Amino acid sequence: MKINISGIKEGQMVEVLNGKDTVLIANVGGSFYAIGGVCPHMRCHLKNGALKGITVICPCHGSSFDVTTGKMVSWVSSMSKDLARFSRYIGWARDLKTYRVRVEGDSLELS
Ligand code: FES
Repeated sequence: MKINISGIKEGQMVEVLNGKDTVLIANVGGSFYAIGGVCPHMRCHLKNGALKGITVICPCHGSSFDVTTGKMVSWVSSMSKDLARFSRYIGWARDLKTYRVRVEGDSLELS
């Protein structure tokens, strides 16, 4: 799958569909990374979150993930402890899938 990245500025993120997968593409300092685009907690779309350095923060309850590795950084940080404990039955804390990217000019190839 090829994506035109000319409009994705540093510090920005976009979401694309790759087959059935929702993928988040992030531009961090001019380098592009691709990880799963849906939070494993309650399926909020990470494109609506904030990108701080290499970390994307989920807009719904604050879980955060490293966009360079897909690793979870923190889990439901903006929920009370009781609600967070309950919410593990909705979605388990886990890392996100990563995708290989290859950039050529204004084109990014996702695999
Ligand atoms: S849906 Fe992302 S932290 Fe709850």
